[in-house]
Formats: sequence, structure tokens, C-alpha cells
Amino acid sequence: MARVSLKDVNKIYRSRHDEVHAVNDLNLTVNDGEFVALLGPSGCGKTSTLRMIVGLEEISSGQIHFDDVLVNDLDSQARNVAMAFETYALYPNFTIEENLAFPLEVRGLSAPERKKKAREIAEILRIDDILDQRPGSLSGGQQQRVSLGRALIRDPAVFILDEVMSHIDAHLKFQMLFDLKAIHQELKKTMIYVTHDQVEALALADRVAVMSNAELRQFGTRNDLYHTPASVFVADFIGEPPTNFFEAELFTDQKGTALHVADSDLVIQIDQQHAQRIARWNESRLTVGIRPQSLHLNGDRNLPALEAEVAINEYLGERSILTLTSGACRFRAVVDADTAAARGERVRVHYAPEDVMVFSGQTELIIL
Ligand SMILES: Nc1ncnc2c1ncn2[C@@H]1O[C@H](COP(=O)(O)OP(=O)(O)OP(=O)(O)O)[C@@H](O)[C@H]1O
Ligand SMILES: [Mg+2]
Repeated sequence: MARVSLKDVNKIYRSRHDEVHAVNDLNLTVNDGEFVALLGPSGCGKTSTLRMIVGLEEISSGQIHFDDVLVNDLDSQARNVAMAFETYALYPNFTIEENLAFPLEVRGLSAPERKKKAREIAEILRIDDILDQRPGSLSGGQQQRVSLGRALIRDPAVFILDEVMSHIDAHLKFQMLFDLKAIHQELKKTMIYVTHDQVEALALADRVAVMSNAELRQFGTRNDLYHTPASVFVADFIGEPPTNFFEAELFTDQKGTALHVADSDLVIQIDQQHAQRIARWNESRLTVGIRPQSLHLNGDRNLPALEAEVAINEYLGERSILTLTSGACRFRAVVDADTAAARGERVRVHYAPEDVMVFSGQTELIIL
């Protein structure tokens, strides 16, 4: 196993006409045995980062260490990393056992040793009952597990997975997430999992590194990302439905300091210590974030509320999503599905002042 650390890592793809800065000054340390997800929209530099860690792509500048060893100039083999991709790439004429054992054959292990190891890994992945079959007769989920098994059997120091679930249906995905988590708990390997799906990232990883536009935006636990997002980008990217954002201004009256939302009658209360810190930033334009889950229709009446009109009541099984309007402002609240709130009705949704996130209107960074 190994700790993986990236220091000031850059990747610039150069062609004759063009230059793409795919990874910009990335600093990131994945601890030994930790499960980290690299999360971000398409094109933000996730795969480029992985390929540099694996040794498939040259590092334009910066350093990558595995524990204390600088690996910049080591090839993939010497780094001892395994990478699993979305495509399974199994050998169709080999049995599952032969597929699993193949990397060990390349390494020169004896047949009984190969058999033993293939069985061990198959048991962890719950594919020990299909060892005699061939890939063609397996389901997509089983093939994916064989492919993971073939990567894991090499006992890599670092295990890397790139978008392995993008084309798996929702039901199977849930099972695979569970399996991957179990594999990590069993093997305690350093794992880096790349995805653009925040649900996967939050479900699996100990910590999530959020990237956009070639840069790391935040690296933290799901709690950090959810409750103290570093920026509007992270607050928007993490959570479903996405965070409500309001353009607002700070104002003070005899009751204290609050935020007035532009083009609406909405006033958002914040705790007074927070207000003082925001006032010190001396910015006229602020962006306020409140998660739809932080707005409660039948909430504590002592808490402040936003009053608005119901525009849409979207029924989603156990819960409903209300789309509310006040003036030109639209926002959403997640409520119990049995809540009767009809279109056109005026409602009050309560929130706790500590659930209000305030960002600089200029830099879009959080003001804590
Ligand atoms: N070999 C290459 N040559 C030139 N540009 C590249 C190359 N590989 C990637 N890029 C560019 O670098 C940027 C980052 O790409 P990368 O594949 O790392 O993103 P990603 O986050 O993995 O995206 P996706 O979610 O779509 O897989 C993109 O603008 C991409 O077009
Ligand atoms: Mg990619």
C-alpha cells in the first residue's frame, strides 16, 4: 500500500497549433489505505490526473510521490498501480478463473498458486460460483467484477478506477457501490475513484477532491463539502436537488443585520456573528446559498422563514420538491411527499440561520 501525494502537478497537452492546460497546480495527498474520489464535470482534468499517477502520461511539471519515493520517472510496472476502466476488456476464450489469474501467469506464479489467489479474490467479489464460465455468458455487473478482480489480483499498491460505472443501470450501480465499499474495507488499499457523479463519490469515498477547469476546488469529507462548501461551484455541484442561490445585500435595522434578496420581498436571517464577519468583507453584492433540504415547510415556528408561492409540487415517492417563487426569485424546498401544497398557495418555509451559506459575489468563495 502507499500514500500518494501530488505536489504542484501540471499537465499541459501541446500540439502544433494548440495548448491545453488540463491540470493546473494540483496539490493532493491520498493517505495510505484511504478511499478518495476525484469528482468533477467532463473535461476538468480527472483522467489526466489519474494517468499521471498511473504512469501512462508524462507529468509536465511537479512531483508525484508514492510514500517517499518520487515516481515521476518510474514506469507503470515499477509504480505497482492497477487501473480498472469502464470497459471490461476480458479475454472471451478464457474462463473467469483464467481471466482472473492471467496477470499472475505473466508474473510467473505456479498454477496452484494462481488457482488459490483467483479463488480468494473471486470470493471477495462474490464471483466464485462462475469461475468455470466464460465472459460471454455473464451479466454486465459480473463482467465488471471480474475486471476489478483481475486488477486487484496483482495486489497493487494503489488501485485506480476511472468512471467504472457510467454505463451500469441504477439498480446494479447500487450493488456495485456496495461491493466496492466492501472491497475497500476488506483489502484496505489506497483507492482513487474517478467520477462525474456526486452521488457515487459521496457514497464511496472517505474524502472527495472536487475539480473544475483543471483545478482542485475543494478536498474534504462529504460533511465538509455539504456543510461548508468552499465556493458557489462546490455548493452547486454537491447535493441534489442543487443548492438555491440568491443574490443579496446586507442591511441593518433595529432588529439586527440580515440579507435582502434582490428583486423579491425575501429577507434572509443570519446569525449576528456571521453578519459581522460578512460586513467586514465590505462587499455590496453577495451570493447566498440555502440547500432545498434546509427549508422546512412545517418547521419550528421560532425559526425565520421565507414566504413564497408554490409554483410546482413535484412528487418523488417519499418526498416532494416544491418550486417556490417570490418576485423574480425561484427556489426549491424538499418536503414530505404527503405535504399538501397546491400550485398558487402561499407557504412559509423555515430554516435555521446556521444553514445559510454566504459567498462573495465577486470571487464566489465562501465567507465563513
Ligand atoms: N491526449 C490529449 N491531447 C490533448 N488534449 C487532451 C488530451 N487528453 C485530454 N485532453 C484535454 O484535457 C482536458 C482534460 O481532459 P480529461 O480527459 O483529463 O478530463 P476528464 O475530467 O477526465 O473528463 P471526462 O469526465 O469527460 O472523462 C480536456 O480539455 C481534454 O480535451
Ligand atoms: Mg475522464
